Amino acid sequence: MADQYARTGDDTRPTEIPAIRWEEPPEGPVVVLLDQTRLPAEEVELVCTDASALVEAVRSLAVRGAPLLGIAGAYGVALAAARGFAVEEAAEALAGARPTAVNLSVGVRRARGAYLAELGRTGDQKLAADAALAAARALHREDAEASARMAAHGLALLDELMPGGGHRVLTHCNTGALVSGGEGTAFAVALAAHRVGRLRRLWVDETRPLLQGARLTAYEAARNGMAYTLLTDNAAGSLFAAGEVDAVLVGADRIAADGSVANKVGTYPLAVLARYHHVPFIVVAPVTTVDPDTPDGASIEVEQRASHEVTEITAPQVPVAGAEPGGGIPVAPLGTQAYNPAFDVTPPELVTAIVTEEGVVSPVTAGALAELCGRSRQV
Ligand code: MRU
Repeated sequence: MADQYARTGDDTRPTEIPAIRWEEPPEGPVVVLLDQTRLPAEEVELVCTDASALVEAVRSLAVRGAPLLGIAGAYGVALAAARGFAVEEAAEALAGARPTAVNLSVGVRRARGAYLAELGRTGDQKLAADAALAAARALHREDAEASARMAAHGLALLDELMPGGGHRVLTHCNTGALVSGGEGTAFAVALAAHRVGRLRRLWVDETRPLLQGARLTAYEAARNGMAYTLLTDNAAGSLFAAGEVDAVLVGADRIAADGSVANKVGTYPLAVLARYHHVPFIVVAPVTTVDPDTPDGASIEVEQRASHEVTEITAPQVPVAGAEPGGGIPVAPLGTQAYNPAFDVTPPELVTAIVTEEGVVSPVTAGALAELCGRSRQV
């Protein structure tokens, strides 16, 4: 396919606002988010002064993506503690805000654990709040480090699978700096390939219905000066058939103990296509996304979202006056019910490799995953 389809980002300014940060203005601590529902039209900050604002931001996808949800959950607990709100209540609400990405509850548990341990030790609310914040900051920092290591492992794997490449990589949803303390998961691998001149093309699935690919991945690819091309999700088949895809790189929201991968809906069909066309299907995720307590794919709770996300074209930055209930432009008859799972599950036999910060699992087996997690949890 001709390179006329490739667009090289011409807006290479770094993103000015980090995806999440903790601030302590005189009025009291806050968690500041880059509101991802407004991208790419505008970079708007969302200032959360309590955990319930963060819960709402999680539900509305203002803050999203597995690793970032973990960081947000941890900061949410720290915020409740620092402002003297009910920490247990906040932790429960945050952990339950979205069900599929395991990192959310992992992050909440870590900050809550630090808070309770310090409270138990000293009985001092202020020290306990400081401990929760330290835990959130540590998670944030570790995620950035994990991201860099995943990128290195992932790039080495791409080079091994496709020596001498000019890689043409297809990705789904959004897995870059917007979901991470660092440069992300799958996107970070593509970015590493770009930096060493080995990314020929990043194919970006638009990712219906909420367009994380079109709105966010294309935004990040442009900002990083990568050669990228956007496609509708259902154009992927013809792209494989044309021999235009060398590898698929995706993130994960939860990886079950048997290696089943829950990720943004539309991932599983890509895995099927990749198998049919003999293309490597690679999942990139931190070890915190592997959930040893979820035995298999069938045990993963898949979030079901509102019909209006499908029955309307939702462009939150352009509200349609008077439109109900989602505020978007209707594209289906009024009252139409939609099947709208936010995620799907890819079985391990379709996954060529899982790349983590601790190394690469390939082939994907329960034993290999358990060993990897055991190793990382000993550290
Ligand atoms: O519904 P979202 O936008 O939170 O879904 C995000 C994804 O599915 C990502 O691919 C996943 O979290 C991996 S991000 C590293």
